[in-house]
Amino acid sequence: MKDMLESIARDAKAALELATTKQELENIRVKYLGKKGELTAVLKQMGKLSPEERPVMGQLANEVRSAIEALVEATDEKIKKEELIKKLKEEKLDVTMPGKKSALGHKHPLNIVLDEVKDIFLGMGFDIATGPEIEWDYYNFEALNIPKDHPARDTQDTFYITENMLLRTQTSPVQIRVMEKQAPPIRVISPGRVFRSDAVDATHSPLFHQIEGLVVDKGITMGDLKGTLEAFAKRLYGENTKIRLRPHHFPFTEPSCEIDVTCFKCGGKGCPMCKGEGFIEILGAGMVHPKVLKACGVDPEVYSGYAFGVGLERLVMFRFDIDDMRLLYENDMRFLGQF
Ligand code: DAH
Repeated sequence: MKDMLESIARDAKAALELATTKQELENIRVKYLGKKGELTAVLKQMGKLSPEERPVMGQLANEVRSAIEALVEATDEKIKKEELIKKLKEEKLDVTMPGKKSALGHKHPLNIVLDEVKDIFLGMGFDIATGPEIEWDYYNFEALNIPKDHPARDTQDTFYITENMLLRTQTSPVQIRVMEKQAPPIRVISPGRVFRSDAVDATHSPLFHQIEGLVVDKGITMGDLKGTLEAFAKRLYGENTKIRLRPHHFPFTEPSCEIDVTCFKCGGKGCPMCKGEGFIEILGAGMVHPKVLKACGVDPEVYSGYAFGVGLERLVMFRFDIDDMRLLYENDMRFLGQF
């Protein structure tokens, strides 16, 4: 019996040394230590031994069991460690593999130019004011000296919500809202969306953007208007840009003008872009009409001011040489990807 126990101990040790997986280890454990295992089979024969031999063999059997159990545990640790090493090797990160490129978005061309315009005016001490896109008739027309029967309303037909409430046709109503709330000195620009019931084509859209400007203080003259807008044009289109003021008419300014800048395509020589003129119109402006100042509670005998309105789409189209306004709204990545 002693020989049998010793050979079990030897065999188990040899088998355990070869085990490399958890399953193999479990099979060995069952084979030697399990209820129907080899050690149990030997112990069942204890009854055949003499009373003197029994305790000696019993102790030897216990020692063999303990030794095998300890070996099983050690082997289990070893297998776990090996499996971890193997796993780490398999999951190794190859930093030389080419990465997946994630597409970064960027500003829309309308916002590229709008941010530049804001920067320029903020740098000159202007604030940014906002107003609602759904506006009262009073702010959009009446207070701007455009009464109900005024022909200027024909060129600015829009979407009416009620008889007195509409989608604003211009950012000029923000002038009124600012003057109602704030006493001069006033220096603001107000960018925003405007609406007109125009059919869509290369130069028209029922929704577009304007940037309004308003300066009111004591002693403001047409010279301030010209100097400020010239500085603006030079910053936006380059130092060599010249501006030209042409007399015009707006109901809310007197006198009024349109302002042209030298054509950036030909530099003023005349080309198809400027239709041979050398200049391109970019905005409307003028000295705020005394009636408008009065409607807002500003005394025209004490204060004067100038105002202007720029079409953002026009600025963007000239700047990037875009010939169709619709491209700005279609969200076509082939177009947007170029900026
Ligand atoms: N609101 C005018 C338009 O939509 C543009 C404009 C012209 C605004 C002259 C002004 C201005 O403030 O003084 O056509």
